[in-house]
Amino acid sequence: MNLSDLHTPAVLLEQSRVRANIERMQQLADENGVALRPHTKTHRSVRLAKWQLEAGARGITVAKVGEAEVFAQAGISDIRIAYCVVGEEKWQRIAALSRQSRVSFCVDSEYAARRASAVFQEAGVAIPVLVEIDAGYGRCGALWSGDEPIKLAKLVAELPGLSFEGILTHAGNSYFGPQSDGETLEAALRRASDEERDRMIDLGVRLDKAGVQPAVISIGSTPSMRYFTNTTRGDITITEIRPGNYIFNDVVQVNLGVASLTYCAQTVLATVVSLHRNDDGSERFFLDAGKKVLTSDRAFRSAGYGQLLYNARVMVPMPHAEINGLSEEHGWVRVPGGATVEVGDRVRVVPNHACVVMNTQRNVYLVDGDEVVEEISIDAQSAST
Ligand SMILES: Cc1ncc(COP(=O)(O)O)c(C=O)c1O
Repeated sequence: MNLSDLHTPAVLLEQSRVRANIERMQQLADENGVALRPHTKTHRSVRLAKWQLEAGARGITVAKVGEAEVFAQAGISDIRIAYCVVGEEKWQRIAALSRQSRVSFCVDSEYAARRASAVFQEAGVAIPVLVEIDAGYGRCGALWSGDEPIKLAKLVAELPGLSFEGILTHAGNSYFGPQSDGETLEAALRRASDEERDRMIDLGVRLDKAGVQPAVISIGSTPSMRYFTNTTRGDITITEIRPGNYIFNDVVQVNLGVASLTYCAQTVLATVVSLHRNDDGSERFFLDAGKKVLTSDRAFRSAGYGQLLYNARVMVPMPHAEINGLSEEHGWVRVPGGATVEVGDRVRVVPNHACVVMNTQRNVYLVDGDEVVEEISIDAQSAST
């Protein structure tokens, strides 16, 4: 099958780029002596998770209990839910899952630790738990610098039905870019990465002194891995990284300086359905891909909703064309100097945020240039709880 046989819009994954992205991150993990546990929320596909495991990943990460259920059902034996799971029904599902796969999850409150413990004790299981840490992002997690993580770790270690596995953070602040005048993109990435590593190691040392040594210190986001190098203080070191987006990359990663366009494996194939000349000589055209596939996520330092390509083989951007608007089923493109496409042409767009694009689809296509190699399913597409 060829690209021209596909109905549009369609989400394409360039197979060789997916493989190269997997290998590159695996190599970074191996060189730094850490386990790679990719976050599979990016693709939600059993097939792609298995490619990551075959390349050397030690287990996978998910955000939802429902995702863990789908991957466990597919035979994946080691799953970390990198999320503060709260709710009796969810803890019961984790207890049931633990009979099938090794499943761990996060807590950042005494409430969750105590209530989860009661559920697991009743079910007669012991579940590995990580204390989630806020190491600078400001989302969930006990603040790395205080005593709260130590109190929580001790509590988890004492409570029946829980076993203390370690600490986990996500440097989502690596997406914020430069934070002061004159800070370069590279300096900002290095700062976020070093802080994530050093703050977690610092906490690891304090936990060790308090008698609760973390077996696992888990960090990671795609941008904070760009310049990651591991360090050690005594016995304490980073043991695990959990990037997710790296398997595809996207406009966000390109604009942050994390990846080049040639590392972007995911594109949306769309058809030009309308084209008109404006009074000022510029042209506008419309794609059959709108919010429902490109999503309305914006990218760092970009006003557009994805990067149109002039040539998808070598990833050359379409000059001057900007996707400057979206409605549900239309991408609105403005070309100041006149368009190089006509109605009926097919174009490719690199999305701003690859992970959410996958969540809009039931199936996507693995491609090798113009050849469609295989249609793969997004197995955990509806695993939203
Ligand atoms: C807890 C957690 N871990 C890891 C990741 C992976 O980060 P990225 O998508 O930047 O690779 C995320 C992303 O949202 C996350 O929330």
